[in-house]
Amino acid sequence: MPAAPDTILITGAAQRIGLHCAERLADDGFKVLITCRRVRSEWQHQPLAEGIEPMLADFSTAGGIQQFINELQARAPRLRAIIHNASLWLDDSDGADALQQMFMVHMQAPYLINQQCNNLFVPGAPADIIHLGDDVTRKGSARHIGYCATKSGLDGLTRSFAASLAPAIKVNAIAPALIMFNPEDDADYRARALTKSAMGIEPGPDVVYQSIRYLMDNPYITGSCLPLNGGRHLK
Ligand SMILES: NC(=O)c1ccc[n+]([C@@H]2O[C@H](COP(=O)([O-])OP(=O)(O)OC[C@H]3O[C@@H](n4cnc5c(N)ncnc54)[C@H](OP(=O)(O)O)[C@@H]3O)[C@@H](O)[C@H]2O)c1
Repeated sequence: MPAAPDTILITGAAQRIGLHCAERLADDGFKVLITCRRVRSEWQHQPLAEGIEPMLADFSTAGGIQQFINELQARAPRLRAIIHNASLWLDDSDGADALQQMFMVHMQAPYLINQQCNNLFVPGAPADIIHLGDDVTRKGSARHIGYCATKSGLDGLTRSFAASLAPAIKVNAIAPALIMFNPEDDADYRARALTKSAMGIEPGPDVVYQSIRYLMDNPYITGSCLPLNGGRHLK
């Protein structure tokens, strides 16, 4: 009998939501591989928690994605889950290739990784792929058209991979609205953002961890998108 799966891959998890989820999943006893584009200087003073291991990966090009896939295949981890968390939030005024950059991170990387790494899940064992989308795809965005379009594309990948990988691997998405502010967000921006949801709070990253656990622990949900928006759709 093959050994049980013990490893979770989270992309773009050297900071914020991804890092928090990596720490919580490591506390749960998983080995957690995180991807990042650079080694963080803060790790010299404050090393990553036990059980978390970084892998360098830049998804800006197909070659960069393929190099990461080759390195992951060479390690041959026994995967329990892949969590696509890496993201770029570029403005439509950020230049001609902003859409292309976001396409690479939000769609091309999950597409190639899901296609080429599903062999790393353990046959017969629980297996999950989870895409971090965005609540904005529910209605579109006048000012972040490229971001919203590429996150909508990720929603499409969720349904198609769920269909193609069932029943061996569940594939779901989480659609967060405001989870945590960026340090540079000013008081006005924060106040306006908080009024957009019925709950009116900045919930912090643990709600994403809770959603990941729900999707991993529930054997009867696939091809779905879990709203995590504090009731934004009610306002
Ligand atoms: N924060 C929120 O309130 C919120 C709201 C809605 C949705 N979400 C979604 O939740 C997820 C986590 O959000 P977050 O705010 O924690 O994200 P974040 O701080 O922006 O971190 C995303 C990570 O993506 C990685 N990344 C960006 N471009 C990359 C590239 N070309 N190749 C490889 N990695 C790349 C970065 O890695 P490096 O640091 O290594 O460069 C970065 O750490 C994202 O998918 C986001 O869209 C968040």
